[in-house]
Amino acid sequence: MIMTQSQPIALVSGATRGIGLAIAQGLARKGVKVLLGARNLQSGQKIATEISTPDAQVEAVELDTTNQATIDNLAVLISEKYGRLDILVNNAGISLDFYPDLSVREKLSRTLATNVVGTAALTDAMIPLLEKSAHGRIVNVSSVLASFTSRGQTDWIYKDVAMPTYQASKAALNSLTLSYAKLLADKNIKVNAICPGLTATDATNHYGDRTPDQAAKIAITYALLEDDGPTGTFANEDSALSW
Ligand SMILES: NC(=O)c1ccc[n+]([C@@H]2O[C@H](COP(=O)([O-])OP(=O)(O)OC[C@H]3O[C@@H](n4cnc5c(N)ncnc54)[C@H](OP(=O)(O)O)[C@@H]3O)[C@@H](O)[C@H]2O)c1
Repeated sequence: MIMTQSQPIALVSGATRGIGLAIAQGLARKGVKVLLGARNLQSGQKIATEISTPDAQVEAVELDTTNQATIDNLAVLISEKYGRLDILVNNAGISLDFYPDLSVREKLSRTLATNVVGTAALTDAMIPLLEKSAHGRIVNVSSVLASFTSRGQTDWIYKDVAMPTYQASKAALNSLTLSYAKLLADKNIKVNAICPGLTATDATNHYGDRTPDQAAKIAITYALLEDDGPTGTFANEDSALSW
């Protein structure tokens, strides 16, 4: 847990369902003030009320990472209300590879717009607020499916998976992780990528039996890293992952 006098403040993008919601709820249970990013503010507010705890009131905030105005407005809101941000969890993500009616141009441009451009734009907007924290943390929710090293191994469990647009987007997100880790190294802002594991959510048509709560744990661990924790790494709950 971050050693801090005041309650840590976290922003989680895409927190209305699935893994993002579980990350928001898990952080709130640990006493973190969570700003729950929601494209639809009204439904976000309903969810925030449901997951608030006596020690940590969750606050819904409007955030569509493809809409710069919502990012800019949110930066102003956080600045005026809290003056800083301690934790940014870049969770919002989409996967369109299994939509046969979309062209590859449509799939790739929409996926990159959310998973990469939106993440970079949100990160950039939040950096001045993270710089005001004594323990800034950025967690990028990536996927082992983007690991070039693993993809080259013939005995890898996912060796037969080919999701061209999703895998390209998460590979780009991994690259952003390394770049921002370098850029922010002297500001005590740690930037890491994590893989939550194949999880039963809307994104996977609820495939398998891994729950969002299980998936959220690794993101929460990296959100609450101690000051001597790593930066510029990629990991899942079992171990470090190869890029
Ligand atoms: N599920 C898995 O097996 C798995 C494995 C590895 C990595 N991941 C990654 O984990 C993250 C969460 O996945 P999930 O399975 O929980 O997905 P999900 O159930 O489909 O939820 C996606 C969340 O992202 C939000 N979102 C989508 N586009 C957005 C945008 N432009 N701006 C802001 N929010 C947006 C959605 O909001 P709305 O409710 O408004 O649509 C929703 O809250 C993603 O980055 C995904 O790639 C998932």
